[in-house]
Amino acid sequence: MADSTSGPGAAAEPPRRVVLGVSGGIAAYKAAELLRRLTESGHDVTVVPTEAALRFVGEPTWAALSHNPVATDVWTAAEQVPHVRLGRQADLVVVAPATADLLAKAAHGMADDLLTNTLLTARCPVLFAPAMHTEMWQHPATVANVATLRGRGAVVLDPASGRLTGSDTGQGRLPEPAEIARLAELLLRRPDALPGDLAGRRVLITAGGTREALDPVRFLGNRSSGRQGFELAAVAAARGARVTLVAANVELPGPAGSELIPVGSAEELRTATHAAAKDADVVVMTAAVADFRPAAPAEFKIKKTDAVPASIELTGNPDILAELVQARSAGRLGVAVIVGFAAETGDRHADVLSHGRAKLARKGCDLLVVNAVSEGRAFGREDNAAVILAADGSETDIPLGPKSVLAAALCDAITALLPG
Ligand code: CTP
Repeated sequence: MADSTSGPGAAAEPPRRVVLGVSGGIAAYKAAELLRRLTESGHDVTVVPTEAALRFVGEPTWAALSHNPVATDVWTAAEQVPHVRLGRQADLVVVAPATADLLAKAAHGMADDLLTNTLLTARCPVLFAPAMHTEMWQHPATVANVATLRGRGAVVLDPASGRLTGSDTGQGRLPEPAEIARLAELLLRRPDALPGDLAGRRVLITAGGTREALDPVRFLGNRSSGRQGFELAAVAAARGARVTLVAANVELPGPAGSELIPVGSAEELRTATHAAAKDADVVVMTAAVADFRPAAPAEFKIKKTDAVPASIELTGNPDILAELVQARSAGRLGVAVIVGFAAETGDRHADVLSHGRAKLARKGCDLLVVNAVSEGRAFGREDNAAVILAADGSETDIPLGPKSVLAAALCDAITALLPG
């Protein structure tokens, strides 16, 4: 499947200069996949591996995948002053994996190799994707170094959780290369897209599409892929939020730094959402929740030999978004910002935006993201166009582009509504 970092749209963009710093961790091999994605997007990538990184993945791999000479030290081609040139010319520096040692050096302004020199001379956005063992990530020294770097405006992603190098599991895995590539692309399009303005905020996002059982193996479902919600989770986490992601039937890896709660039906999504909303500052309902469910799902699989059901009786599902708004109005919920999504088609009564405005008023949420879904737009795609409607009547038009760009614009709108 194509993604936002490749495809016909990307070719028209002017090539951007990206420095990919690779420090010495086992996840260096995953940086090869990141590099492939960056070059396929048409970017001019120079790889700067540390000496330790070259022990994991050799120079020919970086040279072949980047189509550029590999810059390894400050002494080679000294007449070009590489320790200053690379950083000065870069539109973006991405360090993946960023080891505890590399983060420490960057936080303290050390410059004992080409990558650390480049980090000191770069004036463009810098994105660190850390990978290390959990103990190292949680060590007070690393915590302080990460805080220092974030305080200076660098984007330091949280590592993902899961299997680590040995048989151990925990937080410390490199975020998915596809996710790093999408965030890199976002920073190239909008260098100010990932400020730390959601630091300490708890953001609850629902994503995907619910499935309502007809019998133990069949369901009524919808075409939502969950991509927009997952993209929003990645962007909100990169802006510092503590993200809980209630995901209904989404076959995507959970974004780094977010807690994933998988659910199936609307009722399960409702229970998980109400529980997590209790201590959330922001709730964003991107999930496509079934409005109806079979009234009496069969206990056992319906067999071909059974009589063909003349009809399927349906019953209504509660409107979770409306319930959240009501709970807040009644003073039972302290959520500051509630956001709905509406996938609309125009019809003979009204156009997409009129339907959206009416829905915003009906649901009583603070923001409603409206996108047009005719002709297969939005579902399962990597790009999206939308209008963000606010309860104060303002409207923000987001032209067709990567879902991360819409996610960043929505985070801007949310931040503007959060109390200081
Ligand atoms: N939503 C919800 N609970 C439902 C249905 C929808 O919380 N039972 C939320 C969705 O997550 C979304 C918003 O409400 O954020 C709008 O969903 P949509 O299906 O467009 O709204 P409906 O009220 O179902 O309107 P329509 O008649 O257009 O389907």
